Order: sequence, then C-alpha cells, then structure tokens
Amino acid sequence: MDKNTFYITTPIYYPSGNPHIGHCYTTVACDTIARYKRWQGYDVMFSTGTDEHGMKIEESAKKAGMDTQAYVDEIAERFKKLWEFMNISYDRYIRTTDDYHKSAVQNIFVKLHDKGYIYKGEYVGKYCVPDESFWTTSQLVDGKCPDCGREVIDAKEEAYFMRMEPFAKRIEQLLTETDFLQPQTRVHEMVNNFIKPGLEDLCVSRTTFKWGVPVPFDEGHVVYVWIDALTNYITLLGYENDTFNDFEKFWNGSVVQMTAKEIVRFHSIIWIAILMALELPLPKRLYSHGWINFGGKKMGKSTGNVIDPFILGERFGVDSVRYQILRDMPFNGDMDFSNKLMLTRINTDLANDLGNLVSRTVAMVIKYFDGTLPNGTPGCASPTDDELITMAGALREKVDSFIEIPQLSQALSEIFTVIGRANKYIDETTPWILAKEESDKPRLACVLYNLLETIRICSSLLTAFMPSTMPKVFEQLGVTEADVTYEKAVWDSNRSYSVVKGDIIFPRFDIEKELEELNNDND
Ligand code: ME8
Repeated sequence: MDKNTFYITTPIYYPSGNPHIGHCYTTVACDTIARYKRWQGYDVMFSTGTDEHGMKIEESAKKAGMDTQAYVDEIAERFKKLWEFMNISYDRYIRTTDDYHKSAVQNIFVKLHDKGYIYKGEYVGKYCVPDESFWTTSQLVDGKCPDCGREVIDAKEEAYFMRMEPFAKRIEQLLTETDFLQPQTRVHEMVNNFIKPGLEDLCVSRTTFKWGVPVPFDEGHVVYVWIDALTNYITLLGYENDTFNDFEKFWNGSVVQMTAKEIVRFHSIIWIAILMALELPLPKRLYSHGWINFGGKKMGKSTGNVIDPFILGERFGVDSVRYQILRDMPFNGDMDFSNKLMLTRINTDLANDLGNLVSRTVAMVIKYFDGTLPNGTPGCASPTDDELITMAGALREKVDSFIEIPQLSQALSEIFTVIGRANKYIDETTPWILAKEESDKPRLACVLYNLLETIRICSSLLTAFMPSTMPKVFEQLGVTEADVTYEKAVWDSNRSYSVVKGDIIFPRFDIEKELEELNNDND
C-alpha cells in the first residue's frame, strides 16, 4: 500500500535582499515538521523557493547596478546556500522565473479567464509601491499602507480583475467553521476586515512594469504578483506543466502551509479563492506565525535591522540557533530577538539541562558499570520512578499532537519538561550514594537505566528539531538508527545499553564575552 502523503510549503521569498533570521524561522519550522513527518512514515514533499518577479525586484536589481535575471540568480543562490547551511531538507526549490512555472501561470490565467472569473476593467485606487499592494481608502491606516505604514500613491490603469464574490461565503465558512487557519485568533481579523465588508475583486494584471509573466492574450499586461506567486504551490507539483508529475499525489487535502502574519490574507482568502475557481482541493491547514522583531520592530530587508543567520550559526552552532528560534517564538505572538536571549536559551536548556543530563548519565554508567547495563531493569523499580516513566512514555503522543497544530514551541517545552524531570530524578535518587553499597547496585542499575531510556526517547523526538546534534547523543548512548525509530520512541523496560564517552554536546557560552565580541563585530 502507498504511504500517506504530506505536503508542507514555506512562502516563496523575495530575492530583494539577503535572507535573514526571519526567513530562517519559517523555513526551519517547516523543515522540522517535514522531518518529523518523514520519521512518522509519511511520504513527504517539502517545498520552498523564491518569488522573483515584480517592480520591487526590478528596482533592487537596478540599485545594485545589475541585470535583473543576474541579480535574482545571485540572490536565489544565497537563499539556497543558507538552507544548506541550516540543514534544510527541502525536496523542491521553485523559482518563479523557472520556465515551467511561467508557462503554467499563463495556462492558469487563461483557464480562469475562460471560466469567466477573470475580466478586464480599470483600476483606480491607492497603491503602495514597496509592497506592490493596492488598497481601498477605507483600508488605509492614517492614510498610509496598512501593511508597512509607508506612503501610498493614487493609481489608475487598465487591468484584469478576478471575481471574488462567488467564493466569499465558502471562504468565510472555511475560516469560521473549521480549524484551517491557525492560530484561530487571526480568523476574526480576516472575516471582519475583509470578508464582512464585501470581498473586492482582485486586480490580477499590471501594465506598469515588465518583469513578470506576460498575459498570453493581451500584450503589455503582466500577471500581477499573487496569481504568479501563490500558484507556485501547485505548479511545482506539476499542475499545468509536464516538468513534474506529483500533483495528484500531493495536492490532496493533507497540505500544510506556513507564512508569517502579514501575508495571511493572501493565503487564507486570495489563494483559497483561486483554488476554488480552479475547482481544486483546499489545503488542510494554514499556520501564520508572528514576527521575529528586533528592538521592537519587525526584522526585515526594508528596515535594515536584519540578523545574519550565517554569523549566528557559525558562532553558536546551527542546531542551537534552530532550537532557540523555534523555542522562543510563541504560537500566538511575536518574538523579540536578542543575542542575549539566544545565548541564555542555549546555556540553560541545551548546555545545562540536556547536555549535563547526557554527560552525567553516561559518565555514571561508565564509572559504576564499565559502560554496560544489560537486560533492562529487573525487579528493582520504586514508586519514585513512576512519574518519570509515565512522562517519558507519554511524550511521543504529546509531541505528535503539537506538531499537528503546529505548535513547535510547545512541543519543545514538553520535551524539556521531561528532561527537567530527569535531572530532578538524579537529585532524588542520588546515584552516587547508591554506588557506595554493593547491595544497592541493582537499584543503581535501575535508576541509570531509567535515565538512559528517558534520554533515548527525548533525543529521538528532538532529531527533527536538531538533526545534526542528536546523532551525537545516540553515539554516546550506543544506540543505532533502528533504536530511534518513531515506533520505538516509547518506553521499553527490556533494552540493554553499552554507552560510550563522547565530547560535550552543547558547549556553554560566556554570555558577557560573546556579547562583547558580537558588538565589536558590528562596529
Ligand atoms: O512576502 N519574522 O516574501 P518575503 C518572521 N514573496 N518571519 C519572517 C520575518 C520576520 N521578521 N521576515 C520574513 C513575500 N519572514 C512573498 C511571499 S508566497 C506565495 C509569496 C518570513 O521575502 C515569513 O514567512 O517578504 C514571511 O511571511 C515571509 O518571510 C515573507 O517573505
């Protein structure tokens, strides 16, 4: 029988500047979910890419003094390098300048036109140049762009429009009657600000720039950003093109899409309307997370307050960076990034709680049992063990449920609660005292066994989050890949362990010194 499929998408990013830690957040989050799902046995498709058309890109290239194609080639390469560095396991990378995508977009445009959903009209409105967004006067905030707060200009042009009204009722039902949009707090804003006042027809072509996909039947018109960009999620599977052949397989209602909150409207209303117009299945879930802010402002290319993930990863370790951003982004809020927060998180959770648990446990098994604990824990259990065993045994199910929503910060919090419990268990059971009496040796073996089993389960579950470090823990535990499968990430009282001393997994940082050096680097 075919495996169940799972398809997860990041937004396709604008190559109008270098990628930063904000882009990293979404991509690392999707990577973690993709890895977890593969581990669960799903046949996974994980996509990311770059959104390379539009006036903003044209302008960025001009500013850089480069030909537009050469410019996007260079920046797309930087995104790919970053994903390699961050250990991102994407299956497909789409560039909207790829030929197969461009011709598929043209086919889709013609299809929507033939169905009567696209018509020619005249656009009159307020336009935000940097955001490439048209707004109605009522949507402006203090007369400025509601997304970025910048000035808007009056604009009027002949353009194609897509009818939205035929889909309004069904979109509202999707948002209000299902758990499609997460967190659910965003539903209210979408329904009240956009659907209730009446969905306006969507402007889907432009004549003011050239850098885009031409409308096939009307020279001078270029397909405007959203039909070009949003359809990437299906063209990369082979929709309306022969380059790929996975559309039937993956576009089937088990699709999870992730974006940050500023493009939730495009993904929860416009994209859904396009899919409805094409009579295609809808994604199962859209998770629109908060922003990584820096000094109280959204980190972004246009504000210049960007944090370079290459520098952080090189100094602190890629897995530590992955961990911190996933752990500190609340499900329903923003995260204020600082180097101090990152270093504190790494020292507390990774070096102290997890790192120490592994090194202390392994050291004790070596010291008291020459590294080997055979045959599980026969007959020496004590009620003290129950809480730890129950918590570690139930952990996989909890993490599974948080991956589903997806609440990654909460999933990590659950795992680290068990790690914290294991550290407390060492204090409660005092193995170094048990080691003094030969008659306590069986009990000591049982205590250390429970710790090893807890570490095995926690590190198995952490692999999707920190894929290059957890194998180092497995090495120290002396377990193989077959011991850390999804099926085996539950409590087992009948294993045997042969541990091996290894290097420190997460080094501790001198926070003051690191901060000083980082500040000097910025001078
Ligand atoms: O919007 N905090 O591209 P984009 C958290 N091309 N996430 C952030 C972030 C931050 N400070 N900054 C960026 C576009 N992101 C369009 C999308 S999709 C069909 C087209 C992440 O380069 C987050 O996922 O501006 C956000 O939604 C995305 O990058 C915006 O990337």
